[in-house]
Amino acid sequence: MKIPLAKPEITHDDIRAVNRVLGTSRLSLGSELEEFERSVAQYVGAAHALAVNSGTSALHLCIRALGIGPGDEVIVPSFAFIAVANAVRYEKATPVFVDIEPATLNLDPLKVEAALSSRTRAIIVVHTFGFPAELRAIMALAKRHRLFVIEDASEAFGAQYGNGKVGALADFGVFAFYPNKQITTGEGGMVVTNNPETASLLRSLRNQGRRGSEDWLDHFELGYNYRISELNCALGNEQIKRIETSLARREWIARQYHEGLWQLREVSLPALNLPQRRISWFAYVVRLGHHYNREHRDWLRTEMLSKGIECARYFAPIHLQPVYRRESCRKTNLPVTEAVADRCLALPFFTTLSERHIKEVCRTLAMLLRTIGTVAGDGSAPEDLSGQITSGSAYAD
Ligand SMILES: Cc1ncc(COP(=O)(O)O)c(C=O)c1O
Repeated sequence: MKIPLAKPEITHDDIRAVNRVLGTSRLSLGSELEEFERSVAQYVGAAHALAVNSGTSALHLCIRALGIGPGDEVIVPSFAFIAVANAVRYEKATPVFVDIEPATLNLDPLKVEAALSSRTRAIIVVHTFGFPAELRAIMALAKRHRLFVIEDASEAFGAQYGNGKVGALADFGVFAFYPNKQITTGEGGMVVTNNPETASLLRSLRNQGRRGSEDWLDHFELGYNYRISELNCALGNEQIKRIETSLARREWIARQYHEGLWQLREVSLPALNLPQRRISWFAYVVRLGHHYNREHRDWLRTEMLSKGIECARYFAPIHLQPVYRRESCRKTNLPVTEAVADRCLALPFFTTLSERHIKEVCRTLAMLLRTIGTVAGDGSAPEDLSGQITSGSAYAD
C-alpha cells in the first residue's frame, strides 16, 4: 500500500511516554489515566471525563447509566458506525433509524421529531466525519419531549458548535481514540458529562461495579471491565498536547483536496466551512453525482487500491447490515441514507499525509472518473454529465 486510508502520527515523545510507563509498576488505574481524563475534560469544557477501553464501551455505558432497556427506543442515524446501534441493542432496547441531511450527513432534526414515539427515551446524535450536527434543534426537541441526548463525537474531537466543543453540549458526550482518529490511544474512548452522580455511576460500571474507596472485591453494580491501561493513556496524554496543530494540519489537507478536486464535475465535495461551527476533519469523503451508482463507487475503490491508494465506503448503512436485518429495530424512511451511502468514497486522510500524495490521489481519481462510464452495472456508456452537476459546492447534487 502506497497511500493508506488512515495512519496514526506517532512521535518520539509518544514512544518515550509509553516506555516511561513500562518502567513503572503501575499499568492500570494510575496517574496517566487521571491526567488524560483531566486534559480531555478541560479541552472540551466538561465537568467530568471518564476514560474507557473503546468508543463502543463509552456508548454502552451511557445507555446503561440512563437505565434504557427492553421496550425503550433510541433514535440513531443509520449512516454511521455500527457501534451506535449496537450499544442500544446490548441493553435489549430498540434502535430507531432516522434519515440524515444531505449537506452535513448528520441527523435531520425534522425527521427525528417525526420518528418519536411514546417509547422514545434518548437520541444519539453523531457528529459524522467531524461535522457538528444541528444540535440546537435537536436539543430543543429533546427538551420538549423530555428525552436524553448523547452526543457521539467519536469522529469529532475538537469540533465546535457555536462557542462550545461538541461532546460537552448534551447529557453525555462520547469520544473514540482508535488509530484513525484525530488523537489516538491505540484503543480507547471517553465519556464526558456535567452530572457528578452520573459520572460516579459510570466510573463504577467501568470497573466491575466497584466503588473507588471500597475493597477491590466489593461490587455494587453489574459492571464491566471497560478499563483502559496506563500505556494507552500515556499515548493519549502526548497526543492531546498537539491537538490544535493536528487539527490545523488536517484542515489544510481538506483544503488541498478541495483545491485538487473542485473542478471535477462528477463528484461533489464536503463543505470547507459551516456557519458558527468548527469542523474537526476526521475523513475526506467525496460523493459521486446522482447519475452514478454503487457499482461505479466500488469499481473506483478497487481501481484506486490497485494503484496503491486505499479508499473506503464510509458508511454502509447500519439498517442494511445482515445483523440488523435480523435484529429488532425500527426503520423510518431513509431515502437520503440509502442514496448517499452508495455513492460516497472516503479518500486517504491522516495528519501526516503529504502534499505529493494528496496530488497523486486527486490525479488518480480524476483519471479514473474519465473512464468510469464503461463499468456501469449494465455495461452502458457514460452519460454526458455536463451542466447537470454543480461542482465544488457542499455536497450539492
Ligand atoms: C461514530 C462512532 N461511534 C463509535 C465508534 C466506536 O469506537 P471504537 O471503535 O473505539 O469502539 C466509532 C469508531 O470509529 C465511531 O466512528
